[in-house]
Amino acid sequence: MTSDILAHEQLKIELINVLSKFFMRHLEEILQEKIGNFQSIDKITGLVFGKRLGRRGELQLMTVNVESTKNQSYEVVLAFKFLNNPESAAKEGNGAVWLTDILKNNFKIHTPRLLYFSHQNSLLIYQGLVDTHEYLDSKLDQPQKLFLSGLALPYIHGISRNKVMVDRYLHLITGVTDGLNIPPGDKNELFSLFKDDLNRVGTSEAGANCFGDFHPGNIMFKESERPSSNIGDTKIDRTEVFLIDPAYVDSEGNVDRAEDIGTFFSKFAYNDYYLSESFDRTIADLEILCRGYDYAINQNQLSLIDFYPEGSTFDFQIALGIMIDTMFKTKTFGASNIQDRVNKCIEAVQYILRKRPFDIYE
Ligand SMILES: Nc1ncnc2c1ncn2[C@@H]1O[C@H](COP(=O)(O)OP(=O)(O)O)[C@@H](O)[C@H]1O
Ligand SMILES: [Mg+2]
Repeated sequence: MTSDILAHEQLKIELINVLSKFFMRHLEEILQEKIGNFQSIDKITGLVFGKRLGRRGELQLMTVNVESTKNQSYEVVLAFKFLNNPESAAKEGNGAVWLTDILKNNFKIHTPRLLYFSHQNSLLIYQGLVDTHEYLDSKLDQPQKLFLSGLALPYIHGISRNKVMVDRYLHLITGVTDGLNIPPGDKNELFSLFKDDLNRVGTSEAGANCFGDFHPGNIMFKESERPSSNIGDTKIDRTEVFLIDPAYVDSEGNVDRAEDIGTFFSKFAYNDYYLSESFDRTIADLEILCRGYDYAINQNQLSLIDFYPEGSTFDFQIALGIMIDTMFKTKTFGASNIQDRVNKCIEAVQYILRKRPFDIYE
């Protein structure tokens, strides 16, 4: 009786070995980063599925066991991200390519390397990040996380002064005021409060590239042995920042740079208001994030406020962020279950636009 020459698992691995000559080069690069010297990979010896991550579980971690030509065994982690449709995959893929280029010589701020993109399968394969923690899971202190997040942003935004495309925000404020169930009187007032603030956006010189989805879930931290900056706080200096999920990157250079800051703080600000009817905690946090931002551009003799001759647009962008988050919640939970949230959102946004609590450079 003849036995199976190739068991099922073995067959899979052999197939991958034959098909993956292209992939080996990437695996060798990741391995080189991991172990610090180049090892030529001879073969893949195993594949182990890891955690599934992401809001809809669309990200699958996979450990690839490899054997070098010197018969050493190593593990390389990959992250497979399956998107809903080819367009979203292409958009994120383009964002990843742009971001990788922008950060290529940066020792402090990184993005996982995009290894493979398939339009047809709506699939992106990234270098898997190991020993890297999401913002909320990181053991760094909150001020250190805020400072590092602020430090990362100018590398995306750039430092040239450009006009902002105001129409983007006119569309957004029309969209959010029409899209939520707001009593007519409040709606008109909110719209005109936002519209008054558009002047500040229009007169600013804050036009920049934008990360686009700059919330804490898309920021990760990795502690390293060696310092990657010389700021003076040992933990900050030993932490590298990874920006992930570049699905909404805008590289036209005409987005208000405070938009990313608004996205970052909108959920914190709403919760702050919900719990305390004030924004005291968020203001303190915003100040620290801006300190990180200013630290990065200080070498160019700049401060974030220099892009805003008529005053910052933090209030506008955080208020807009709160409205956008509430719109998303309406979509998730249905309009009828969410009216309390909508009412609180209106209250918070009116407070912000009337009292300008986030005008911290004044
Ligand atoms: N390259 C990676 N390596 C390891 N973990 C990752 C990687 N990219 C993302 N993750 C993890 O998966 C989660 C979801 O990924 P993300 O790209 O942000 O997807 P989503 O579109 O669901 O927000 C992240 O919050 C992070 O914890
Ligand atoms: Mg994400």
